[in-house]
Amino acid sequence: MTEDLIAAARDAMSRAYAPYSGFAVGAAVRADNGEIYSGCNVENAAYPEGLCAEASAIAAMVNAGVRRLSEVCVMGKGDALVTPCGGCRQKIREFAAGATAIHVCGPEGLRKTTTLDELLPLSFGPENLK
Ligand code: THU
Repeated sequence: MTEDLIAAARDAMSRAYAPYSGFAVGAAVRADNGEIYSGCNVENAAYPEGLCAEASAIAAMVNAGVRRLSEVCVMGKGDALVTPCGGCRQKIREFAAGATAIHVCGPEGLRKTTTLDELLPLSFGPENLK
């Protein structure tokens, strides 16, 4: 079931624009309409302007008119787990429940599945502003 999400993240990773770090990342989200939206990291010569893969995938989902996701997959190379950065955890939080599965993958496939709540406990979200 997660294989389609993993394949989408792998495909997106192959399109990463990461000339500065050399670290390609792909991400894919399963949205509530059943569609998969993916994204890659897009770096910039003005380094802080770079975009993470998760942010790209979420932007693709929102641009398709969908605002809820149920599963996330992130893929990167190297021995260490490529978990979403702090900023991306918060970006996922905006559109997902705490129990949302986050699949952390290497090019060979799934390495670890965790949840948004595990990655971002006691989080601040849209409900706080109501
Ligand atoms: N990166 C992501 O795209 N997602 C993450 O969760 C971690 C880091 C990117 C940002 C930058 O282009 C490169 O990986 C190195 O940090």
